[in-house]
Amino acid sequence: MRKKVIAGNWKMNKDLHQSQKLVSDIINGLGKDTKADVIVCPPFTSLYEVSSLLKGTQIKLGAQNMYYEESGAYTGEVSTDMLKSVGCEYVILGHSERRVIFNEPDELINKKIKVALAKGLKPIFCIGELLEQRENGETMQVVSRQVEKGLEGVSSEQMKNVIIAYEPVWAIGTGKTATPQQAQEVHSFIRELVAKKFSASVAENLIIQYGGSVKPENSNVLLSQKDIDGALVGGACLKADSFLGIIASA
Ligand code: 13P
Repeated sequence: MRKKVIAGNWKMNKDLHQSQKLVSDIINGLGKDTKADVIVCPPFTSLYEVSSLLKGTQIKLGAQNMYYEESGAYTGEVSTDMLKSVGCEYVILGHSERRVIFNEPDELINKKIKVALAKGLKPIFCIGELLEQRENGETMQVVSRQVEKGLEGVSSEQMKNVIIAYEPVWAIGTGKTATPQQAQEVHSFIRELVAKKFSASVAENLIIQYGGSVKPENSNVLLSQKDIDGALVGGACLKADSFLGIIASA
């Protein structure tokens, strides 16, 4: 049985003070018998402080991006060692906002994934189609390409540390959620792809999260689908109550 993994992607929200408040409210509200794994991904500027507040709790820390070089003249970038030094265990890579707004191609995402894994950070690797691609019937083709290119050169052993997040771009921040059937269809397709590329057991153990307008009102039915193993939450993770509601439904 795969464990449910609920991650909150805070995106470019919450200054230091607001981050302290949000993470304290999440810690205080989280029941002792929470079965799901919980990850929070605040902005870079809050990582260190949030990490200190998370000490002794079951909540894990993730970053929202990184660069693949170790150090040097890369103004504005952050390395894996820097993230690890402030307590990160996870890093979100390939998010559609990075792909679309910051023009990150599959090849760059692949380099980042390989370096993250080599350095001991666990990637939350995001994939998903644009609205136009869904309407043109290209969803499976897009997702296949992203999986193929993003995970090129990754070993079956390393796949134990990868989470895939399927986030249809048209469902992100729009209030439109994929129906549980639409999401399940793509999740099961992704698991088959991974089985073919790696092995049946890698696929069976892989956590595949759904992301795109997940909220407490829809998380239960999404998370009860066979191949949906968790959620990557944007807007609804910015309020402790709604994030805790999603965790409770897992
Ligand atoms: P929303 O939950 O705001 O739609 O964002 C989803 C997302 O992009 C998480 O990475």
